[in-house]
Amino acid sequence: MRIGGPMRYVAYGADGTAASLHLAEAPTPAPAAGQVLIEVHCAGVNRPDIMQRQGRYPPPPGASPILGLEVAGVIAKLGEGVVGWQLGQPVCALVPGGGYADYCVTPAGQVLALPTGLDMAQAAGLPEVWFTVWANLVDLAHLGAGERLLVHGGSSGIGLAAIQLARELGAEPVVTVGSPQKARFCVQFGARAAIEYRREDFAAALEQLYHQEGVDVVLDMVGAPYLARNLRVLRHDGRLVFIGFQQGSRGELDLREILARRLHLTGSAMRPRSIAQKTAIRDALRERIWPALAAGRVRSHVHASFALEQARLAHELMERSEHIGKLVLRLRG
Ligand SMILES: NC(=O)c1ccc[n+]([C@@H]2O[C@H](COP(=O)([O-])OP(=O)(O)OC[C@H]3O[C@@H](n4cnc5c(N)ncnc54)[C@H](OP(=O)(O)O)[C@@H]3O)[C@@H](O)[C@H]2O)c1
Repeated sequence: MRIGGPMRYVAYGADGTAASLHLAEAPTPAPAAGQVLIEVHCAGVNRPDIMQRQGRYPPPPGASPILGLEVAGVIAKLGEGVVGWQLGQPVCALVPGGGYADYCVTPAGQVLALPTGLDMAQAAGLPEVWFTVWANLVDLAHLGAGERLLVHGGSSGIGLAAIQLARELGAEPVVTVGSPQKARFCVQFGARAAIEYRREDFAAALEQLYHQEGVDVVLDMVGAPYLARNLRVLRHDGRLVFIGFQQGSRGELDLREILARRLHLTGSAMRPRSIAQKTAIRDALRERIWPALAAGRVRSHVHASFALEQARLAHELMERSEHIGKLVLRLRG
């Protein structure tokens, strides 16, 4: 394929269904100043891609309208002023959009070297989840050694990264999951315990586990139906961090709980953050997490990979929530 000619990408229809995902052609993007062009070998699939396809998560101004928030591949072209990267160098990157395509541009500050020992599929599943868990658990929640963390959706791509980040920081992760198989997997992956939220009330299970004491931080992606219980399980000075609202964003809370136990409520979305903020997170991951990946303490778990033209199957699998960890699209190799 000639750079500058047409490239393949995954398009979707106006109805926003998984069935409408199909291959199409578009011009290969050119890197602007400060950006790199990546020849994409694998692209990670994330829940926000499904929301974008359904019209519920529009790309921020200036971002590619093509799906895809993370890729692994090789540097194909350098934009003006970019230093520190070489043509042909294997990398993975957080991208503002456009990952489900043969070529993709992204700011150079969002690129990381392919971690030692990982293949393209494993590396493609790293950026979105690791940038997100770092920003929320370290920068916002200040999760520290000796603290306890509750992660909802422990077997998700985000959840597995959160379990491992907690362990790297010296904290103890407990998770909620939807099946016994996911519970076993999360415990093997480093969770102290996995609560099956369909079988038992997670707050009651946690109170039993910690003898009524609760946790220091909750990472939530469920939203409204968990609000009251998330507050209930927090200890004094606890932090509740919202990264998603799969079951609703409007809830009612008793403000007395916040006052009485000095609780903090926060949250963030990665995509609209500034390039400078993403670059700072990239630098922290390079220093703290990339060596742990190379040493094998931190792992990337790919549940399944699909050819680009099978994007529909990947989205349908994610919508059924039968996966554990990451789903990846393969474009080359
Ligand atoms: N804020 C950000 O910047 C950001 C960035 C990336 C992703 N996210 C959000 O993070 C979440 C995970 O993303 P992902 O790409 O890793 O998706 P994913 O692998 O599809 O994960 C979704 C998870 O939600 C869990 N879940 C659904 N209902 C639940 C409930 N009632 N209780 C506990 N867990 C429940 C599922 O668990 P079971 O399958 O076990 O039911 C599954 O593990 C999504 O909500 C996504 O929108 C936010």
